[in-house]
Parts: sequence; C-alpha cells; structure tokens
Amino acid sequence: MTANELRQKYLDFFKSKGHSIIPSASLVPRETDASTLFTTAGMHPLVPYLLGEEHPGGKRVADVQKCVRTGDIDDVGDNRHCTFFEMMGNWSFGDYFKDEAIAWSFEFLTDPKWLGLDPKRLYVTTFKGEGNIPRDEKAIEVWQKTFNQAGMVAEIAADDQIIKDNIRIIPLGTDDNFWIAGTTGPCGGDTEMFYDTKPEDGPLAGRFTDLVDSHRLMEIWNDVFMEFNKTADGQYIKLEKPNVDTGMGVERTLMVMNGETTVFETELFQPIFNKLSEISGKQYGESEEVKKSFRIIADHIKASAFMIADGVTPSNASRGYVLRRLLRRAMRYAKLLGIETDFTRAIAETVIAMYGHFYTELKEKETVILEELTKEEHKFRQTLENGIKEFEKIANSLPNSKISGDDAFNLYQSYGFPLEITKELARERGFEVNDDEFATELAKHQELSRTASAGMFKGGLQDTGDASKKLHTATHLTLAALRKVLGNQINQKGSNITPERLRLDFNHPDKMTAEQLAEVERLVNEAIGKDLPVSFEEMTVEEAKKKGAVGVFESKYGEKVKVYTVGQGDEIFSMEICGGPHVDRIGILGKYKIQKEESSSAGVRRIKAVLE
Ligand code: ALA
Repeated sequence: MTANELRQKYLDFFKSKGHSIIPSASLVPRETDASTLFTTAGMHPLVPYLLGEEHPGGKRVADVQKCVRTGDIDDVGDNRHCTFFEMMGNWSFGDYFKDEAIAWSFEFLTDPKWLGLDPKRLYVTTFKGEGNIPRDEKAIEVWQKTFNQAGMVAEIAADDQIIKDNIRIIPLGTDDNFWIAGTTGPCGGDTEMFYDTKPEDGPLAGRFTDLVDSHRLMEIWNDVFMEFNKTADGQYIKLEKPNVDTGMGVERTLMVMNGETTVFETELFQPIFNKLSEISGKQYGESEEVKKSFRIIADHIKASAFMIADGVTPSNASRGYVLRRLLRRAMRYAKLLGIETDFTRAIAETVIAMYGHFYTELKEKETVILEELTKEEHKFRQTLENGIKEFEKIANSLPNSKISGDDAFNLYQSYGFPLEITKELARERGFEVNDDEFATELAKHQELSRTASAGMFKGGLQDTGDASKKLHTATHLTLAALRKVLGNQINQKGSNITPERLRLDFNHPDKMTAEQLAEVERLVNEAIGKDLPVSFEEMTVEEAKKKGAVGVFESKYGEKVKVYTVGQGDEIFSMEICGGPHVDRIGILGKYKIQKEESSSAGVRRIKAVLE
C-alpha cells in the first residue's frame, strides 16, 4: 500500500460515515493560540470546535493533518520517533461517541474492503480509572462486543498488564490512557489500538509495556473520548456534549500494512535515503551510524521544508530557532557522512516530489523553501567549521573527559552550537558535558536578555530563565523523592532541561511501577505545598559529603563547592552539590507532574516531568 492509497482510503471511509473532509491546517497554530509553537496533533487546530463552537463542516469531520513535535529531537534516529509526521483523524463534535468510534476503528482496520488487517493481531488499551474519573466500562463493553462479532473472545488484563490466552484489552492509568494536548483544554480517557508486528515469533505473551518497549506491539491509532475541559487552575469541567478525537499515524500504519519493521523502511523515507546515497556514496543499511544519520537528515529536512512552506524562517527565537536547530542537526549529521557540499536543496526537492501533490503548499512555495535552506546551509557551514575547531581545541586541552558547562555555553554563544551538538561531539569521543552547569549559564544569560514574548518559549531557547530555573529546582526535588521511594543507592546519571520539561536519568534496573511514580509525584507536590525555602552554602567537598549532600564528588580535595538545600531545620527535603541557580522558595513551582518513565540505557531509567 502506498501512502497515497492509505490517506485516500481513510478519507473515503469516513466520508462514507457522514464526515466532511477538511484540509490539513498550517503547522503554525492560529494567532490566538499561544499554547504550542507548532501543530502537534490533528485535534490542535480543532480545539475551538471541541469546546463548543460550530464547525462549518458540521458535527463530523475527518482529515490528514501534518504535525511537528519537537519535544524529543534527541530521540529522532531511534526506531520510532520523527519530528514530522502525518496524523489521520476523525472527529465528532457532540455527535457520535464510543459505540460508533470503536466500531468504525475496528471496521476500517480489519475489513478487507479497507485495511484488511488481521483482528487476531489487534490489542487495545482502555482507561482504567484514576482520581475522580472512573474506569471506562463502556469502552471495554464496546470492544468486547466488537471482537465477539468478529468471532473472537476478548478478555481483560489484570493490573499486572500480563497478556496471555484471550486477553486483548489492557486497562491503563492516566499516563497512558488519558489524553490532553499540553496542560489545559479538552481532554478525556482514550482507547489505543496496537498491532502485533511479529506474529511469527509465536503467541503474544508477557507484560504489555514490555511488548511495547520491544516494538513487538506498535501503537497505530488512538480514540480519545473528550468529556472534560481542564482549566488553568486544574479543574476538570464536564463538557456539555462529549466529543471524539482520533489520531492514526500515517507512517506507522503504512509500516504495519507493508510488513516493515520501522517507519524508515516505508516509501515516506526511502526516496530520501536513495537521494542521500547518491550524494554521500553510502548505503542506508551499511552501519548503525549511517542509518542514524540518514534517519535524522531525512526527518529534519522534511520537517524544515514543511515549516518553511508555512512561513517559518530560520532565526534565533521561537519557531525560527526550532527550524534552525533541526537544520543544523541535519547538517552536522551530513558532515558525519562525509558530505561537504550543498545537499539540502536536493533532499528538499525529493520531499516536495513525494508530498507535493497532497500538500500543494510545498509546490507553491518551492522556490522559497530551496532558497531558505541553501542560505542557512551556507551560514552554518562556516560556523560549523569554526565551532568544531574550537571544540577540538577545548577537548585536547582538558585534563579529564568532562566538558564544563562554561565551555559548552561558549560554543553555543559564539558558534551557535546547540547543546545537543556539543553533546554529540562529546559522546563520539567518550566525553561528557556538564548539563546542569550549561543550564545555569544559559539561565543567567537569559535573565540578562529577556526579549521574546511570554508564553511563546516552547521549543526555543529564548525567554527561558524562569522556566529553566524552576525546572532545575524541580530536578533536585525529583532526585530526592526518588531516593526516598527507591533508596539511597539512586544517583543522577544525567539531566537535561528545556523550557517545557525536566529530564533526569538515574541508576535503577527496573521499570518503575505506577505506585512508585505516584509516590514520587506526591512527595514532590507535598514539598511544594509546604513552600520550603531554598538556600546554599559553600563548603569543601568533604564537608558536603559528611552532611549527606548528593552530587558529583570529583572535585579536588579541599576545593569549595556550593551545596543547595531545599528545606530547613529538621525538615530537609534535598541537599545537593550544584552550581545553581534555583528559586528562593519552592511554592512557586506549581503542580509537578511526571510525564514519562522509560529506559535510557542498560540499568539507567529516565524520567520526564513538567510543572503545570
Ligand atoms: N489527539 C490524540 C492523539 O494525538 C488522538 O493521540
């Protein structure tokens, strides 16, 4: 099946179910929406209608929406993550609900007239109920009925999420099966559909999350049952009429349809890879490094071409900065492939040839896209040359393998090297970069030069002083809470702060349970609720150790370090060696929420958390 056939089938199917077909909205959200920099899901441009406004297309619409998610640029290059992707979606604005949404999802997926996927390879998750919102019995009932009609028995997994025999329905909590775009707006429990990608490996059995982590189960579609509007003060207000919002990934579905094991094997990437082979003389499969570079370059140039078509140009703030960062990362990986000449133009031409018939704006803006790319490419090539020389100089003069935050910041400031690039260069040499120190330098710098408008900092690096500082303090609280829940053997293995979230890596062999995560959240929020003060003291490393401070103890004997303490007297929540800066009192952090707990590398887990 081609991408074109897939898109067309989807739209035809929902047309036959009374939906109006609407065009993809721009990647740049409407002006009144400051919640994100880019359109991140099919529902994003439809929020006003999900909140009650009348849609000109009626109560049922369907589309294929181009999306960009830049939260995890670092993850692009693994098997699944892309910054640019397309999402097919169907919506009910106060019209049909769970019965029809689920029945239609099943029909479209399994009916030979449509996708004809094997229903025996289909598994679904539903909302298990948490807080004041009960378990979604209705979704379970509809799924059981739907599977029954197809001659199958669908049993429900217990809390251990173990799949065996006839178990096909896995109820999960808020983290997995409650959907909201960002922190406020229309939201509700959802049901997600997963496909068994390797039936040849024998009957599916094991813990659901493990099967997803190992890529045996691939999520392809999500039906959200929007029943609430979450307000800025954290209340869930019941919507007058509930809606349906669904999202089905084009890339993933295409992959599954064609029996491929990664989205990168589909025709949405292969032509770009062929072009890259032509330019670099290297083959996609020849090594893991080449594979990764191809993936990153293809994804980033594709995203960039779409962004420029929607009016974004490279700059140092906001959307323009995200674009610049994507382009620069792509160019650096091209350099790793040995590409020394202009290449973005040829790649973008391939992208336009692949997508231009469906997204006609690409064809209309072809000249601008190619010009902007080449301009940025020339600018960056010069910077890159200078920066890499500077990096080598720094690396060669170091007594150890630690790049200080100061040096990383200088590379950022003077050579436009995003931290990610410095870290990648460092990784290649087996070096490490001090993230905390870099965040500190950046925060200091930004507090001096705050310019970008408030609320528009998502994804960029402007105007992030306060946000970074709060998340930095929250990182300390996370580590302290982890030690309380999992034990004092827990240490920080890395951290990274963007304006939207904190990320903390720590040593722990197993996936954390929902209860452990809830306890970490509770402890942090309890501390925030007490508005504990933050203070620091300078002392020698030995004194810090004696006091029980955690942190990096590699400073020289007798050297003074700063120790930051959250709390006072006999209520000390956290004590950590750190350069700062931090907030003065933690009450202003707001509500702390863990978004994700996942594996980072062997024996190291990763938590991403936000402040709402
Ligand atoms: N809005 C839902 C998602 O993006 C469908 O997964």
